[in-house]
Amino acid sequence: VDVRGSADPPVDPNEADEAAHAASSTHPDRRSFLAGGAAGLAGLAGLGLTSCRADELIDNASVAPTAAPVSTATAAPTNPPPTATAQLGDFRSDTQPGVLLPRTAAGIFATFDVAVDDPTELAPTFERLSAEIERLMTGGPVDQSDPIRPPDDSGLLGEDPGATGTVITVAVGASLFDDRFGLVSRRPAELIPMPLFFNDRLVQAGLSHGDVGVLIHAHSPQAAARALHQIVRVTERRLNLRWVQEGFNELLEPQPDQVASTRNLLGFRDGTSNPDKSDAAVMDEHVWVRPEDDEPSWAVGGTYLAVRTIRMLIEFWATAALVRQEQIFGRHKESGAPLGLELEADEPVFAATREDEGVPLGSHIARANPRDGGPRILRTGFSYLNGVDPAGELDQGLLFIAYQRSLRSGFLAVQSRLDGEPLEDYIKPVGGGLFFVLPGAGPSPEGYLGQSLFA
Ligand code: HEM
Repeated sequence: VDVRGSADPPVDPNEADEAAHAASSTHPDRRSFLAGGAAGLAGLAGLGLTSCRADELIDNASVAPTAAPVSTATAAPTNPPPTATAQLGDFRSDTQPGVLLPRTAAGIFATFDVAVDDPTELAPTFERLSAEIERLMTGGPVDQSDPIRPPDDSGLLGEDPGATGTVITVAVGASLFDDRFGLVSRRPAELIPMPLFFNDRLVQAGLSHGDVGVLIHAHSPQAAARALHQIVRVTERRLNLRWVQEGFNELLEPQPDQVASTRNLLGFRDGTSNPDKSDAAVMDEHVWVRPEDDEPSWAVGGTYLAVRTIRMLIEFWATAALVRQEQIFGRHKESGAPLGLELEADEPVFAATREDEGVPLGSHIARANPRDGGPRILRTGFSYLNGVDPAGELDQGLLFIAYQRSLRSGFLAVQSRLDGEPLEDYIKPVGGGLFFVLPGAGPSPEGYLGQSLFA
């Protein structure tokens, strides 16, 4: 499959922009996106790249079950630096600790479809899953005293490795709230199946959606694999794997003036601009569902999760001039600073005209965050490398992960603003899903992930 979709770009960024977009009759204003100024803004408005589109997506969605063949994709493991140990979050809290975790060297996102026929089996399945996750996160003991029984733990990290820094987050998809389990009235108000966006023609159902989503953060691919083994083992015949994506991060040595802890596979620093995770008030404003929200009460302490497996057309990207690459993002490649500035932490200055220095209004960061004081999303993620496609091109990209208090004003609004961005020539989403991260297991030893949902 040729996923590139357009010819090799000319080197001049302005010419490149014209050429890349001239063919796009559905997006007549695209050529002005990198130009900035009034033309760029008119382009955004003309395409309806506002939160109205997010409203439509939610209002018109139906929660149909999404049967799909099991499909898995695996990445080549990388060796993380020895210092890249995940910080252990506290499992027994009101929110799941994985949400605020710094990037980790390794990870897996897996989704499952529920296979129980009897709805009363659902809560015990989550209880079992939750107990195993607590054991994996806290390093609970393994009983392997009886040699004629299979070991309780796969042993990938040794017989009894203790706490290894693995942190696991559990979320539920819109399909869990169809008519199978009596949960129709308990669906989080904005949880819909992932809709298709402008650039989503390669998105496959077999790599998308799921009744349950599990995100594993770990310090090594082996530790992540061990956690997935254990989750599959304890939920066997009740949760069926639907799709799996492995990922990794190159964790940069901390440096003065450096904000992002990694670079993505397009070579840019990734994670520079995020709401401040260390500020509880900021997290309450942008990430956690709060009692005053128009949501079911069980959902307080949860958060919406958007996951997108976004392939990068790296061979094509490698032909784009550096200046074009930087204009596409609005940041300098090496330093991560906004265009025209020196430090990664500097606030971007948007270019008023095409001739101005500064960050083009059509760039990724200007569209993603117009800095209008509106809601923000909390991004994390992993790079992935899945080998080679039938056309001989690298199958690699970004496992994009974002948390937000509202899908409508979070991911759906941001993605709608990004629809038609120049970066789309070089990236093609292939899968993903929208989920709701369950509230934490809580301080009581009897509490488990999902308890408030099934109460
Ligand atoms: C392969 C796909 C993508 C790549 C390579 C990419 C890369 C980047 C880079 C390099 C930055 C600037 C550094 C930073 O602040 O982290 C950035 C910022 C950002 N991206 Fe993406 N991104 C991708 C997809 C997305 C998607 C799907 C969304 C949301 C729908 C998104 C939302 C954002 C936001 C909100 C920012 C911060 C803007 C700011 O506050 O300055 N990105 N991205």
